[in-house]
Amino acid sequence: MTRTVYVNGEYLPETEAKVSIFDRGFLMADAVYEVTSVLDGKLIDFEGHAVRLERSLNELDMQSPCTKDELLAIHRQLVEANGIVEGLVYLQVTRGSDGDRDFVFPSEDTKPTLVLFTQNKPGLADSPAAQKGAKIISIDDVRWGRRDIKTTQLLYPSMGKMMAKAAGADDAWMIEDGHVTEGTSNNAYFVKGNKIVTRPLSKDILHGITRAAVLRLAEEAQMEVEERLFTIDEAKEADEAFTTSASAFVMPVVSIDGVALGDGTPGNVAKRLREIYLDEARKKAI
Ligand code: PDD
Repeated sequence: MTRTVYVNGEYLPETEAKVSIFDRGFLMADAVYEVTSVLDGKLIDFEGHAVRLERSLNELDMQSPCTKDELLAIHRQLVEANGIVEGLVYLQVTRGSDGDRDFVFPSEDTKPTLVLFTQNKPGLADSPAAQKGAKIISIDDVRWGRRDIKTTQLLYPSMGKMMAKAAGADDAWMIEDGHVTEGTSNNAYFVKGNKIVTRPLSKDILHGITRAAVLRLAEEAQMEVEERLFTIDEAKEADEAFTTSASAFVMPVVSIDGVALGDGTPGNVAKRLREIYLDEARKKAI
């Protein structure tokens, strides 16, 4: 099926959508993005994603292409046009193109590029991958120092997923100065006793929208949460582990570097948090 996509004010068939070869998103990864999930044809955590997008744009002195209400309308229009019941909406804003390649930012009157498209993912909430749990490996974190900005510099996370695949695993957690930062496209947690441990927010990790919701829900459910640095060895000795992201919600982790966690199946805390998160996400979806 040919998707309807959005490019700079127009809804077009994906085969007709065009962006300049001089676009700074293409030449320099001078671009930020958001991924919002869709359940029951409605947007999950839209507000959080819109606020984080604004923050990413501000941090990079990039112009906002439109208002939050306009963005919401575009998301909804694409979900409807493509008949998405469960899936994702991908949004990207670049600094645009001034018709040449130059390291210096173009003048203020260069319009940002705004692109959105949907990804149809039937069974996203009831995913077999979540029932099985993910096997992860650990790799060095060699990304830049502003991981709190959601830029499209995704080459290393892509390489990380390929390293995981080559090792027969599903994903990778990254390590810097002896401590786990996050997963290639998710935030990382382990559970020991009745405590959930995850790295605190800083410039070292993306401030996950799913993370914020899951930590709030965990506390509401009287689970103990500790935000601190942790090592991969601590995670390997944990009872269970999991990741959070808009694209996979709460994903149980069943092994790290080949070491099985607990009995090697998804843990109860991860399963419960996934359930609670999905339940609330559906209720609050817009
Ligand atoms: N990735 N950390 C990184 C490095 C990420 O790329 C993501 C999301 C997260 C989780 O953030 P959130 O809960 O807001 O999705 C953490 C998206 C899903 C992606 O790149 O497809």
